[in-house]
Formats: sequence, structure tokens, C-alpha cells
Amino acid sequence: MKALILSGGKGTRLRPITHTSAKQLVPIANKPILFYGIEAIRDAGVTDVGIVVGDTEPEIRAAVGDGSAFGVKVTYIRQQAPLGLAHAVKVSHDFLKDDSFVMYLGDNLILDGITPLVEEFRRDHPNSQILLAKVPHPEEFGVAELDGNRIVRLVEKPKQPRSDLALVGVYMFDATIFEAVDAIKPSFRNELEITDAIQYLIDQGRVVHHHVIGGWWKDTGKLEDILEANRMVLSRAKRAIHGTADADTRIEGDVVVGKGSVVTNSLLRGPLCVGERCRIENAYIGPFTSIYDDVKIRNSEIEHSIVLERCTIEDIPVRIEASLIGKEVRIQRSRRKPSAYRFMVGDASSVDVL
Ligand code: TTP
Repeated sequence: MKALILSGGKGTRLRPITHTSAKQLVPIANKPILFYGIEAIRDAGVTDVGIVVGDTEPEIRAAVGDGSAFGVKVTYIRQQAPLGLAHAVKVSHDFLKDDSFVMYLGDNLILDGITPLVEEFRRDHPNSQILLAKVPHPEEFGVAELDGNRIVRLVEKPKQPRSDLALVGVYMFDATIFEAVDAIKPSFRNELEITDAIQYLIDQGRVVHHHVIGGWWKDTGKLEDILEANRMVLSRAKRAIHGTADADTRIEGDVVVGKGSVVTNSLLRGPLCVGERCRIENAYIGPFTSIYDDVKIRNSEIEHSIVLERCTIEDIPVRIEASLIGKEVRIQRSRRKPSAYRFMVGDASSVDVL
């Protein structure tokens, strides 16, 4: 069995972060989302992994390499344009050959992994096995309609969903999926939809099993979902202080501080993590915050946020919360005249001021 991780796409819902970076590399509790997927696949005993990449190929390659750091062998598959999940399967045919495979969307996070699900697929040999989860807003997902225990219809982002069962971003297929992806036509949004391909399998009388998962799962395509994923993963963090904290600093709860980081006169209230070589001075870092490497925070308060590498946050008089702050961003208080807000922010950024 092989694995196919989809790590191309447009990432429009996560602009401006995705103007310059792959959304699959946004860190959740200081580890790129994509790495959780690779580890879940490896833990399920699958080591031959294809990663579908688009314009962000160099960045994904630099982060994942040949896969040996994870104990897997990675083959990169270039998708010339993000023409849909089923299109990604199509362009991966040479890599997958006639093997069965697990397809994993690179921006999805399944907290408890996929091992039992892969085992179930290996044991029962259906043509496809899909995962479903009950969600509050099914209209944002591919939705499954069941008749008893049988799937009758899959609809991509229906305006009036007939169930609250969304397709989770992990699918298992045997080689019959290639017949399906060749047979279907692009949807109204000009993508080859994986829901249409699975519907084709159903209509052809193929065996499509489903499994409603009970554990925590998130499609991290949007800011709120990334912050929620960060919250979930951090809630399992265990205290580990590898940096230094002075006597005027208070550390409460599960706090991780990486090597070379120095914390002075601050309150760190976990669960939270601070990366390596950070400087935290006269600051409050609150629960569910992930601060990546080489960040400086002085005279400021932040919680429930993700801060990427090499940012500086200084002298901000109001607490920062529910924020995703990209690499090398400076947020500072200005003493220049006239006293005013001054911004230099990228396209499609979002700034909320008091
Ligand atoms: P989506 O989140 O559905 O699509 P997207 O990444 O284009 O984002 P947005 O809707 O915000 O514009 O994609 C799910 C995963 O599959 C994600 O990791 C990107 C990947 N993907 C591909 O690799 N190729 C594709 O053609 C598409 C559509 C997605």
C-alpha cells in the first residue's frame, strides 16, 4: 500500500499567508501541519509516500526532504495547476501504479491518527473507504447522504445539505479509482472533484465503505480552524523548559520553552509553546499560543495565537489574541509624529484595531 499526500492547491482562504508560503507548512504547536499527516501515515505502516505539490514545491521539498527524517520514502509529484483532488490522483498514476493507497489532504489534522482505519481497509478490501465526521456546517464540506448504512450520494459543498456528515480529508482507494477519475468531468468550479469520482464508483456498483470517526479532526483551510487545531494540539502538551527563565518570571501549566530562549520578568500561562532562541521580556503569553523560533516579544501581551519565525512584537498596549502572524512581521508602538497607525501589510491581509 502507498500513500498520496495532497500539498498543492491555491489556499485562497488563508491569504495573505499563502501568497508567500504553503499553508501545509503553517506550524500547529510549532510543527508544520503536513508533518502530522506524514507521521500518521508512517504510524499506519505505510512508508512509500507521494506528495503532490504545486507552486510551493521548493518550500515543501526543503521542509520534508527525502522523508528519511520521518522514516518514509517521499516521491514528489508536480501538479501543474490545482485542478482538483481527483486531478491530483490522475497525475499521480505513474507513482501509484496499480497499488491501493491512502490519500491524505495535507492541510488536515486527525488527532488520533489513521492506523485503525488503514487496518480496516487492508482487512476488508473495499474499492474505497471514506471517513465521515459530524460537523455543524456541512455546507462547507463534501457531504454524504446515507440510506441505512449505505452511501447513496456525495455532494460537494451543497447549499442545502441532506445530512451533517462531512467527508474527512482521508480516503482509501484501490486501482478502480483511476477509471473513475478518467470518467468524470470538471465541476462548475472547473475542478475534478473527488466526490464525483467516488460517486462514480458507487454508481458503478463498486464497494465503497464509510467510517464515521468519533475523534477530533480538522480541515485547517481557514484561520479559525488553524487556531482551533493549535488549541487542540497544545491541550495535550507537557511541560518542558529547555530555555532559561529568570526569578521574576512565573510559568503556569504546560509550557514548552525551546533551547536558547530567554524569558525575563514575564508570565507564561500554558498550554503554550515557545520555540528556540526567542526573547520574551516583560510580557504575558497566554493559553493556546504557539511562538515559533527567533521571535522577540517585549512589553506586550498575547494569547490564543500563532506567531511565526523571526517576528518582533514590542510595546503593544492592548492584548493581542486570535491572531496568525506571518514570518518576520514587526508589530510595534511608534513614537513618531504625527501619532497615527502606520501599516505596511501584504495583499489580502486583515488588521483589526481599537
Ligand atoms: P482545498 O483546501 O480544498 O483547496 P485549496 O488548497 O486550493 O484552498 P482554498 O479552497 O482556500 O483555495 O485543498 C485540500 C488539500 O488538497 C490542500 O492541502 C491542498 C491540496 N490540493 C492539491 O494538492 N491539489 C488541488 O488541485 C487542490 C484543489 C487541492
